[in-house]
Amino acid sequence: MASAAYKYIIVGGGVSAGYAAREFVNQGIKSGELAIISKEAVAPYERPALSKAYLFPENAARLPGFHVCVGSGGERLAPEWYAEKGIELILDTEVVKADIATKTLTTSAGNSFKYDVLVAATGSTFIKLSDFGVAGADSKGIYYLREIREADSLIEAIKSKKDGHAVVVGGGYIGLELAAVLTMNKLQVTMVYPEPWCMPRLFTSDIASFYEGYYLSKGVKIVKGTVASGFELDAEGHVTAVKLKDGRELAADIVIVGVGARPLTTLFKGQLEEEKGGIKVDGFFKTNNEDVYAVGDIATFPMKIYGEQRRVEHVDHSRKSAIQAVQAIKAKEEGRSIPEYDYLPFFYSRAFDLSWQFYGDNVGETVSFGRDEAAATKKFGGYWVKDGKVVGVFLEGGSAEENKAIAKVARLQPSIDSIEALASEGLAFISKV
Ligand code: FDA
Ligand code: NAD
Repeated sequence: MASAAYKYIIVGGGVSAGYAAREFVNQGIKSGELAIISKEAVAPYERPALSKAYLFPENAARLPGFHVCVGSGGERLAPEWYAEKGIELILDTEVVKADIATKTLTTSAGNSFKYDVLVAATGSTFIKLSDFGVAGADSKGIYYLREIREADSLIEAIKSKKDGHAVVVGGGYIGLELAAVLTMNKLQVTMVYPEPWCMPRLFTSDIASFYEGYYLSKGVKIVKGTVASGFELDAEGHVTAVKLKDGRELAADIVIVGVGARPLTTLFKGQLEEEKGGIKVDGFFKTNNEDVYAVGDIATFPMKIYGEQRRVEHVDHSRKSAIQAVQAIKAKEEGRSIPEYDYLPFFYSRAFDLSWQFYGDNVGETVSFGRDEAAATKKFGGYWVKDGKVVGVFLEGGSAEENKAIAKVARLQPSIDSIEALASEGLAFISKV
């Protein structure tokens, strides 16, 4: 079995890995110093495309079009870029063991890799319905979405089940984005989720009611307050219907499941300190081991603005955390110091012709604006107010300037005179800050 050694190894080849590689190059590395080991067969790409433009019926996004770092307006790092920079891109390779004590990684093929500094960027995987004990959840026609090969299987299914029924299990990010794109592909879509409204971890009932109304107007059916409890299968074992806990059945040619994600920390179990389900890091993404950094979805980091350790499963943080970690690694080597990570949460989504952004923290009292006219204007939003200060802002249909302004509000946390005054000012409040 082969073995090799690198000064730096990034394990995982997703969004964080790509942005980390670019930052290593920006900071200055020599040819042959950096390797990326990835389970995926392609160079790092902007994962958000998979639930959006990659599945469009026309003009769909395809690689190499969406390799990192195009998602943030940066240079597109095609596979040749890594070769030119002397970065070893080791694809289709799963690391099955990480021995932190001997600084050795072992792959499923039995090859071993030594590092001086490790950047762990293994991201998340989907939670499966079988994890909740749902029988038949691995049958044909049931899809999950995390990586490009799953998106490709889904595209095949969409093509072969034209005008068929699709059931979307889950009312979060995947649920809402997939329900939209499957509808655009002319499938008859039904969503099912247990909560009283969609995206409950961020949306208020008021915000959710706009999206639910919009989806209904596009022909999406919504079943709330129950969960998938099993499946009907045909003689070939292909799904034909989703059985619900309340006794109903939904006809299904395709089932898409988006019931949450789980950070992939198993390689480091018992070796690195964990917190809140992720690997505990400091404001430089350094773990409790001097030579191991963890970034992206798997990192539980100090969210300085709120004085709390948190984990974030969104792309903006995966990019920024990777850049911070690499800057910290290089600064440490050169005996310099850099500022601690000071992250402002930023989440967004796009579906149909809608597009929202959220900055800050969704805690405290909520105030909505523009909601009554939203069906006509497709523009509305909301504030979250805690201790008399605006700490979070949501905006559907905002312009680039308005989105910049809501980010500023969430960062500065301005005090307000009263909830009533903020409600009557509405969106105009952001231009005063
Ligand atoms: P990421 O998942 O990107 O990469 C992890 C990599 O590690 C993968 O290549 C994986 O194969 C590899 N890996 C794991 N274990 C390994 C092992 N043992 N050996 C080798 N390789 C291993 N966010 C957002 O803000 N806006 C959005 O619109 C979207 N949209 C979106 C769509 C879809 C379909 C998904 C699945 C996710 C999103 N997200 C999002 C979330 C966002 O994509 C996510 O937070 C980042 O990709 C996280 O970046 P990481 O690098 O941490 O993990
Ligand atoms: P999620 O946490 O956003 O939503 C999970 C949803 O699953 C819940 O809202 C709930 O409605 C539903 N649910 C839970 N248990 C269920 C059950 N037993 N039956 C039916 N429904 C159930 O997770 P997700 O949508 O699966 O997304 C996976 C990951 O991908 C997350 O990390 C997410 O942040 C990321 N992602 C982000 C974006 C974005 O930021 N725009 C887009 C796609 C994916």
